[in-house]
Amino acid sequence: MSNTLWGGRFTESTDEFVQAFTASVTFDQRMAQQDINCSRAHARMLGHVGVLSEQDVNDILSGLAAISAEIEAGEFPWSVALEDVHMNIEAELTRRIGDAGKRLHTGRSRNDQVATDIRLYVRDAIDLVCSQAKRLQTGMLTLAEAHADVIMPGFTHLQTAQPVTFGHHVMAWFEMIKRDVDRFNDCAKRVDVMPLGAAALAGTPYPIDREFSREQLGFNAVTANSLDAVSDRDFAIEFCAAAAITMTHLSRMAEELVLWSCAQFDFIELPDRFCTGSSIMPQKKNPDVPELVRGKTGRVNGHLVSLLTLMKSQPLAYNKDNQEDKEPLFDTVDTLHDSLCAFADMIPAIIPKPENMYMAAKKGFATATDLADYLVRKGLPFREAHEVVGNAVRFGVEQQRDLSEMTIEELQGFHSTITDDVFDVLTLEGSVASRSHVGGTAPAQVRQAIATARAELERTG
Ligand code: ARG
Repeated sequence: MSNTLWGGRFTESTDEFVQAFTASVTFDQRMAQQDINCSRAHARMLGHVGVLSEQDVNDILSGLAAISAEIEAGEFPWSVALEDVHMNIEAELTRRIGDAGKRLHTGRSRNDQVATDIRLYVRDAIDLVCSQAKRLQTGMLTLAEAHADVIMPGFTHLQTAQPVTFGHHVMAWFEMIKRDVDRFNDCAKRVDVMPLGAAALAGTPYPIDREFSREQLGFNAVTANSLDAVSDRDFAIEFCAAAAITMTHLSRMAEELVLWSCAQFDFIELPDRFCTGSSIMPQKKNPDVPELVRGKTGRVNGHLVSLLTLMKSQPLAYNKDNQEDKEPLFDTVDTLHDSLCAFADMIPAIIPKPENMYMAAKKGFATATDLADYLVRKGLPFREAHEVVGNAVRFGVEQQRDLSEMTIEELQGFHSTITDDVFDVLTLEGSVASRSHVGGTAPAQVRQAIATARAELERTG
């Protein structure tokens, strides 16, 4: 069967392999509802400016409604011979309503059509992803609030650094996701521009009313240049970049959950429903959900690179290369959505083990900086204080004793200005409570940060 949509120019039908190779309908049918909405708006606009009769517009709209229902029901006869979602729907429309179906493509090209469809798709995807991200943020606030003053070791280089509160750590995750949501919202501004009307690349001689179509589709603006309109995919690249950063953030959290749930750290318990066992080792409870999210980060980062490479060096305007944007984009949406969903379910269900975290924070001289700061308050220059505490730590390592476990006489041996009040700063509680400023780890500050975050989350809905 030769393709009737461009049959006029051709003397032989498309090679069967080429037909399958160039087709996109197996994956772009996912944008069917966006495509139908785009066609509805275009038909109404053509009716509005008098290019199509009222009868034609009505026939098109009722034909599209029936097709839409059939697609929803999974009963639409998709055909690879008809290449893509656009031509499948148009051919079926024509089969149903005759000539009016053939008039739908007046003043339009698949180039502005597909560009419009993808923007509609990404717009919906951003809403979907952000609602999962916000569910995750709410879960983080629940977890952080319930354990705002639980003390754990804070790490740099994965070596004990200073004590922090568990709530503070969880709120650090919250900040990452908050910026991710901001990035998606920012990306949405550039997605929200309508290419329809650019036609193939140069616009169209018909008296189209792009404002009318824009309003129908709920876009914020229309594209300002027809060449750019059909070739631009940087809104999709931007979406994938935001997705890759979000996945990268999730992978960092995932890594911590994996570490924390192992027998050696033993900081948290992941509920059984997020783990699996081993077929050979009876004792195993593997943190599969965080591991998988960590692994899936690779493919989302890869999709970003795919899209960048796809666009690199493309001359204006539309090129068939762009058909390759869809699979990476769709898989990015699915992977990110599901990963956020898994985390939103799992994070508030984490069961911390405060005693283990506390014991871990006691190892590794986590309050050494507090002792140095104490000596500074007694008048020593910081560099000298650093040196004094270094000596005390070396002694502690030899003796296998924490600074807080030394006698006052031993401590005074390192510097004579040390008095009994030193033990206030050498305790883990004293250390975290002393960092009481905006952004600090003191439980009071963490509670304040949670309250501010919760109010903002509720405000932005
Ligand atoms: N299936 C194509 C795509 O996804 C639609 C646009 C085709 N345009 C063309 N001139 N061949 O990009």
